[in-house]
Amino acid sequence: MGTYRVAMLPGDGIGGDVLAAARRVLDAVGFKADYQYGDIGWEFWKAEGNPLPDRTVKLLKSTDVCLFGAITSKPKEEAAAELSPTLQGKGYSYASPIVGLRQLFDLHTNLRPCKAYPGNPLNLRDDIDLVVFRENTEGLYAGVEWHPIPDSVRQALRVHPKMKRFDDVSNEDMAISLRLITRKGCQRILRSAFEHAQAYNYKTVTVVEKANVIRETSGLMIREARKMAAEYPGIELWETNIDAMCMWLVKNPQNYGVLVATNLFGDIISDLAAQLVGGLGFAAAGNIGDEYAVFEPTHGSAPKYTGMNKVNPIATIQAARLMLDYLGEREKAAQMERAIARVVVEGKARTYDMGGTTTTTGMADAVIAALK
Ligand code: NAI
Ligand code: MG
Repeated sequence: MGTYRVAMLPGDGIGGDVLAAARRVLDAVGFKADYQYGDIGWEFWKAEGNPLPDRTVKLLKSTDVCLFGAITSKPKEEAAAELSPTLQGKGYSYASPIVGLRQLFDLHTNLRPCKAYPGNPLNLRDDIDLVVFRENTEGLYAGVEWHPIPDSVRQALRVHPKMKRFDDVSNEDMAISLRLITRKGCQRILRSAFEHAQAYNYKTVTVVEKANVIRETSGLMIREARKMAAEYPGIELWETNIDAMCMWLVKNPQNYGVLVATNLFGDIISDLAAQLVGGLGFAAAGNIGDEYAVFEPTHGSAPKYTGMNKVNPIATIQAARLMLDYLGEREKAAQMERAIARVVVEGKARTYDMGGTTTTTGMADAVIAALK
């Protein structure tokens, strides 16, 4: 094992607390890394007009992988108002740095494992083991949107017979967000999902779309899924619609394994699946591309708990565990996961979200003790 170069981006609010907790667990499991801390988030937006400074992008490019805490993000008008007076009116506009990272590094796969650790009072049931693969760069989040609609776009859309119904709606009274899906985008996320199912012995991959109604985009995803499934004879492909899937996930979540979806549907089922197994204090994500990956808890900066040493660090410890898996440190990753499972089942250390009084550092101490 060599020494890995790991970028650490604590960000805002509780980001620093949870990242520090995860770092201590990584040290305790014997993971050797050269950690480089970088700037990201609201402070840098206010002071520099950029929440993702160029020096941070440069730092990431010099590392193997990134562990990210959380950032604060606010709507357009509030963001503009909080910008340093010397930068006001100079054309700075706020954009989410985490979305920026996904696009900049082409982190096409969003990986969200949602596994119930028995004994967690927040579990819907104890036998849930889901892994969501969400396409992270296109679909409805591609950012191709108009309001009002430019005349040229309006003109071009006339080729579609269904547009006739909207002939008397003005450009100003219409908004369009394009659900843009590519074959390559479908293939990349499906490949990640099937490879994961194979590597970790999941029997099924469920593709979650709505192909009976959204015929072209969902249709492309489903057809690509069928083609790819033929390459994995040991894995069964199940096809469901997003609305029914929400119902099934609440009714029989234990029946599913790997789930795969385009951007918006994947976003929706990720949060639903996370809540089945403990919610924000437990949910971690990997943003994985061909060259680089960023791991994070999925919660935000929870400003009201800043500096209180109160929130649950397990989500971030899980993010660190996913990072080890990505780096090929499977044994250390498994050791971390066993420690988390042990702490949960013993039930002695519980943060406030689990109904207890254990602190952030106290929870990290408990996980470290359970590594032995
Ligand atoms: P949030 O996730 O920061 O917090 C919502 C609530 O969830 C908290 O008040 C707390 O009760 C609970 N919570 C969050 N993390 C927890 C943890 N580790 N342990 C236990 N409980 C936890 O979401 P909110 O309040 O909507 O947003 C706060 C800020 O974070 C906003 O500026 C938002 O834009 C940003 N945000 C950033 C994200 C990111 O960095 N990836 C993701 C989501 C929100
Ligand atoms: Mg989401």
